[in-house]
Amino acid sequence: MLKTHTCGELRVEHVGQQVTLAGWVHRWREHGGLIFWDLRDRWGITQVTINQETAPEVHALARDVRVEWVVQVTGTVVRRPPGMENPDLDTGEIELEASALRILNRAKTPPFYINKNEHVDEAVRMRYRYLDLRRPAMQRNLILRHNVIRFIRNYLSDRGFIEIETPILFKTTPEGARDYLVPSRLHPGKFYALPQSPQQLKQLLMVAGFERYFQIARCFRDEDQRGDRQPEFTQLDLEMSFVEREDVLDLIEGMFTALVEQVTDRELVTKPFPRLSYAEAMRRYGTDKPDLRYGMEIADLSDLVADCGFRVFSEMVKAGNPVRAICVPGCASYSRKQLDELEAIAKEAGAKGLAWMAVEASEAGPVRSPIAKFFSAEQLGAILERTGARPGDLLLFAADSEPVVCEVLDTLRREMAHRLGLDDPKKVAFCWIIDFPLFTWNEDEQRWDPSHHLFTAPMWEDVPLLDTDPGKARGQQYDLACNGYEVAGGSIRIHDRAIQEKIFGLIGLDVEMAKERFGHMLEAFEYGTPPHGGIAPGIDRLVMILAGQPNIREVIAFPKTQQAADLMAGAPSEAEPSQLEELHIRVVLPED
Ligand code: AMO
Ligand code: AMP
Repeated sequence: MLKTHTCGELRVEHVGQQVTLAGWVHRWREHGGLIFWDLRDRWGITQVTINQETAPEVHALARDVRVEWVVQVTGTVVRRPPGMENPDLDTGEIELEASALRILNRAKTPPFYINKNEHVDEAVRMRYRYLDLRRPAMQRNLILRHNVIRFIRNYLSDRGFIEIETPILFKTTPEGARDYLVPSRLHPGKFYALPQSPQQLKQLLMVAGFERYFQIARCFRDEDQRGDRQPEFTQLDLEMSFVEREDVLDLIEGMFTALVEQVTDRELVTKPFPRLSYAEAMRRYGTDKPDLRYGMEIADLSDLVADCGFRVFSEMVKAGNPVRAICVPGCASYSRKQLDELEAIAKEAGAKGLAWMAVEASEAGPVRSPIAKFFSAEQLGAILERTGARPGDLLLFAADSEPVVCEVLDTLRREMAHRLGLDDPKKVAFCWIIDFPLFTWNEDEQRWDPSHHLFTAPMWEDVPLLDTDPGKARGQQYDLACNGYEVAGGSIRIHDRAIQEKIFGLIGLDVEMAKERFGHMLEAFEYGTPPHGGIAPGIDRLVMILAGQPNIREVIAFPKTQQAADLMAGAPSEAEPSQLEELHIRVVLPED
């Protein structure tokens, strides 16, 4: 080793020892005949002193050294002079007095400061990702990611799960996104698809009798990028045989509870994890991934405003639409300008306007609001009671179709929680969403779409509905939401060929197509398939939340941009004509 200790290791008990450190020069300063370096490696920072009088040759060499040069320093550990200790550093009571120096590698001036925590344009960070990853904050994120994955591997291995790798070159997997295709050289005109998840393979491993499988699995989906989406991402993919829904939920709940408490310094605020039906989540929070770190639940006021004088509300209710509101604590003093801002946010989410009431009593009544005059004292009283509003609160209303009302109030609820600082990143709140409808109606294509994926089993008691009223059938699927993100999805699966074929039919997959794409699954179901089910938590989203980061790029070593590009290596890029020829591919570029 070129070092005897790490840069985070030396303490007062090492004083007097001769040691060798190696790392990057994080900072340097020169005072008279003394040069000070902060020497950095993954484990920390140690101060090095180079004295012109006692080590003139080292000093002469050190004068040229700049930030991010890689050096090896040998010297004696000494106690820092009284008053010079640095309580912010683990090594802050000592320093290394250099007696020998080797410059291992020089560095150009980096395009941004590694030693300052200041905002850097993300494109520049991505272009020089290896420098970005040197920054202590990024190293912390990736170390946390490692600790999370290590914990999961141990936890599951201890409970009889085995990790099995499944192919990356495979066939289309129906998770609802576009596939990434890989052309085959040996089979002209044919393509592999990269897995959107190992869904089929893990089910086939159950047919194979493994009973308890997991994998830290890479998944590929060609879909629009967002802060919580990457074209390639990582799932904890998991499947179990001879289980019911409760078994899968219990396993994951136990594991994530232990994970948060043992691996992070976050506060788990939901113990046990609350369970909400899909319908209940939509009604109370307007979303199937509610953030339960705070309240501000949605109140339904449709019955209370059905006969009010405010036509926007009464007409909506007459047309069968809901009128709902959230009560924002302490915001009654919001100014005209602030309310206009909120209205713009509501409109962005699809609202036609944003009616509001500030709970401020005056001789005019209990609220200040442009629409107060349309309501009787009884109606106002009932609204305040239903919403739990108290003096000083602000009510925000949405009256529209069900999906728009949900979208608008979910958006406002998250916006207001953020403004009020209720979305504390130190807190972690999980909840299960269950009882999803098995299908959603696809208006454009006039057919049913699976709301999870096409291997999800209906509730066994709802199987007859597949013939009579598929829209009413509930699926045996579950999602795990955390701090407003969907962090996992899974289900109990179909293990019966006849039901699987019926589902294929309902989603408009004809027999030939179903055979071509999933014939191997249907065939396997005829050779003794155990009842089985599983789940797949998204590792990137989970680590993002546990690291308190705003997007998953911060917890992925080499992520892609919004345009699915790697700015460092320059991917995607053109292929050599000879490669294309071998692959039997001719490229036809779009006109413009
Ligand atoms: P699903 O499609 O719900 O289920 O995905 C499971 C979890 O994976 C994460 N995730 C993503 N993370 C980052 N970028 C993406 N583009 C992305 N897409 C999904 C989410 C999500 O909850 N095979 C099923 C699981 C099963 O049924 O067992 C599946 O893939 O956190
Ligand atoms: P109007 O009488 O149309 O000017 O609307 C009075 C108030 O109700 C304004 O603050 C509008 O922004 C608001 N408003 C209008 N339509 C809706 C709606 N569909 N839902 C909630 N508020 C609305």
